Amino acid sequence: MILPKYFDDRAQLVDKELDLHLTPSTEEPKELYEAMRYSTFSGGKRLRPILLYATYEMLAKKRTEAQLKQASLAAAALEMVHTASLIHDDLPALDDSDERRGQESCHIKFTPAIAILAGDALLTKAFETIAKLDDKKKATLCIRVMCNAVSTRGMIGGQTVDLISSTKKNVPINVIRYVHMKKTGALLEAAVQLACVLDGADDNMFNTMTLYAQNIGLAYQIIDDILDDVGDFEMLGKEPYEDIRNNKFTYPSILGLDKARQTAEKLISDAHKLIKNMPNNQILVEFVKMIKDRLP
Ligand code: IPE
Ligand code: IPE
Ligand code: MG
Ligand code: MG
Ligand code: MG
Repeated sequence: MILPKYFDDRAQLVDKELDLHLTPSTEEPKELYEAMRYSTFSGGKRLRPILLYATYEMLAKKRTEAQLKQASLAAAALEMVHTASLIHDDLPALDDSDERRGQESCHIKFTPAIAILAGDALLTKAFETIAKLDDKKKATLCIRVMCNAVSTRGMIGGQTVDLISSTKKNVPINVIRYVHMKKTGALLEAAVQLACVLDGADDNMFNTMTLYAQNIGLAYQIIDDILDDVGDFEMLGKEPYEDIRNNKFTYPSILGLDKARQTAEKLISDAHKLIKNMPNNQILVEFVKMIKDRLP
């Protein structure tokens, strides 16, 4: 299996890029820079950057160092957006979660006010970073992809409907599907779309890879919700049963664990089908397997 090594290598690459763009916490206002770095470097799996690199590298036989550097800019930007979304997701006004990745959430380690500002600052830094791409036409297209992924039609829209749904007595499964595809799927979609834009891939490839990421995104959130029901602190890096505590409607809470699991498996198999005949697809195939292996 070559995926673990690939994961390590590319995670290191994006970490280096993140370190380059995030201001050292020796500068003022120290608390803000420290909070941004604390949440960025606290053991995230770097799934979105890795998916971006893997797609970009599938689309050509060989990538030069200069090309990988461009991909790193986009990968770092996307991870900044993801980190911002997690900082805000944990806030008392949203999921009210005191731990993430086995340590204190940003608003506990610092304050809710600093966590709000650190999230805002990371989100802004993400767009500054992606605007640095050498090819300015591609930079503009990438900014559009990121705006779409973050926007009211993307992650923020999903998080909003997630919150509103938790005040209801009943929510139809298609609304939960929408929430998952937006709050979680949108950033995974952006990973493959940014790779396609950087490559100059045609619409057909862009659409196929978007579908691949949509299937993975929905499956990933269903599995996250299953894990919240059956996992422990050690596995989750935070206390389980958070969704029940917050009255979140999920696939396992609506359909039951077995049906939720089957739905995730079907989505993963659909994602695999979309790429199985593509040349040079080894890492993306293993990426699908890795998501499936998260199923308890
Ligand atoms: C967590 O995402 C939030 C969800 C979309 C379920 P990840 O599982 O990618 O989180 P980290 O970055 O690896 O901690
Ligand atoms: C996360 O959904 C989605 C975003 C942060 C955008 P969850 O709220 O289920 O993620 P965890 O469980 O806190 O990681
Ligand atoms: Mg949430
Ligand atoms: Mg949460
Ligand atoms: Mg969760």
